[in-house]
Amino acid sequence: MAGVFANNKLAPSAAKLDRQTRGAVSRAIADSRFKGRAEDSLMINAPAGTKASRIMLVGLGKEGEMSALRAQSLGGRVYAALGSSGDAAASVLVDDEFGGKVAAAEIAANIAFGARLRSYRFDKYRTTEKPEKKPSLKRLTVLVRDVAGAREAHEPLASLSDAVFVVRDLVSEPANIIYPETLAAEAKKLSTLGVKVEVLGEKRMAELGMNALLGVGQGSARESQLVVMQWHGARDRKAQPIAFIGKGVTFDTGGISIKPAAGMEEMKWDMGGSGTVIGLMNALAARKAKVNAVGVVGLVENMPSGTAQRPGDIVKSMSGQTIEVINTDAEGRLVLADALWYCRDRFKPQFMVDLATLTGAIMVALGREHAGLFSNNDTLAEKLTAAGKATDELLWRLPLGEAYDKIINSDAADMKNVGDRYGGSITAAQFLQRFVKDTPWAHLDIAGMAWSDKDRATVPKGASAFGVRLLDRLVRDHYEDKAGK
Ligand code: BES
Ligand code: MN
Ligand code: ZN
Repeated sequence: MAGVFANNKLAPSAAKLDRQTRGAVSRAIADSRFKGRAEDSLMINAPAGTKASRIMLVGLGKEGEMSALRAQSLGGRVYAALGSSGDAAASVLVDDEFGGKVAAAEIAANIAFGARLRSYRFDKYRTTEKPEKKPSLKRLTVLVRDVAGAREAHEPLASLSDAVFVVRDLVSEPANIIYPETLAAEAKKLSTLGVKVEVLGEKRMAELGMNALLGVGQGSARESQLVVMQWHGARDRKAQPIAFIGKGVTFDTGGISIKPAAGMEEMKWDMGGSGTVIGLMNALAARKAKVNAVGVVGLVENMPSGTAQRPGDIVKSMSGQTIEVINTDAEGRLVLADALWYCRDRFKPQFMVDLATLTGAIMVALGREHAGLFSNNDTLAEKLTAAGKATDELLWRLPLGEAYDKIINSDAADMKNVGDRYGGSITAAQFLQRFVKDTPWAHLDIAGMAWSDKDRATVPKGASAFGVRLLDRLVRDHYEDKAGK
């Protein structure tokens, strides 16, 4: 592969290949619609004058418009084009000229990162797939002059992509394999990276009064779990931590308010928020981030049965507030109510960010291009939005307010767990806000993002691990000890 700038100007590597192939590169470009734009690519097969089986030209866009993000997506598209080409190995040529202001080493590292992210595949249960249907590409080499610089830039990206893969595996696994206890066991593995992991079972949660969470799991044969992960990476181990809370419904049937059969299998990924929190803790620990961070995930299975919670049941949450459960399918907020309260109460964090596949309504509002962002703190919301833009994990802020809050008042208890027909994502967020008090807090409704409906530049169709890259970036940009401070 070699780069071509928009307006077809050959980068040095492409110009060299053009000479080697006695003009095959420029002839192929002239006979095509390839203009060197950031989305363009062109394949030249079996060119004379080289040993390569093919040359792929990739558009770099306008000179000086290169960025880490564009390099990632370029890497992703290179993998998409070559992964199943039949070739087992390929090389990417990165010229010093590629990046304009961005160092070539940085571009090279991000190309590798993007390609790796795109190469994810969950195929462990496909026992009869023919080898010739499996991806052929085994090795992608990125060639760049500043090898040491590229290696250094790549190291944290490599551990970040490892964390993303862990999450994608957890989210892809079906609910007969990943249920509260097995997911807690996966989280436990973080202790090898120096994360302190505690698992609370139903007995302990009952002592703590977590009846909102326990009510959701009471119809399941699987025991509910609360996992608490602590990473102490700041110079001051006692410094106030930042906190991430995840919804971990390992399967959501809807409970007695049961969901329709069509598409119910998708509810194996209703633990996506907890997967991302586990993956983030993995990423922070793997790169020894200089921060104190806490992850709390509430793990339950929402099933209908003789012991299941009924519509109309009233539960007392750990906070003391009572909840009338109008719809047992609005279960995520019940799990988060106790997880958020517990986290706040025990750790008194600088802020809490929760992630949850909370509402179908967020997909009606935002489609599958942005996660919903709700926050009681403008600064935190702005930092999150910026981190989303920098990592292509986009957020769109939606409102909160007293008028919405009133909608979840109940005649029988302090609140009910659903609002009326409209603004379902907002009333869900209002519900959560009742459990954070004045702690700076943001809620990310990732129902439209945890599973990608199609191949995207660095996210193949399937489990996305949405939020790992975004939150790693948030921490890196704002919450770590700086050198020398
Ligand atoms: N897990 C679902 C939300 C969801 C739906 C995620 C589709 C991903 C895809 C959540 O527990 C749920 O069932 N929400 C209900 C709330 C309603 C009963 C107020 C919904 O969105 O329909
Ligand atoms: Mn539900
Ligand atoms: Zn759910």
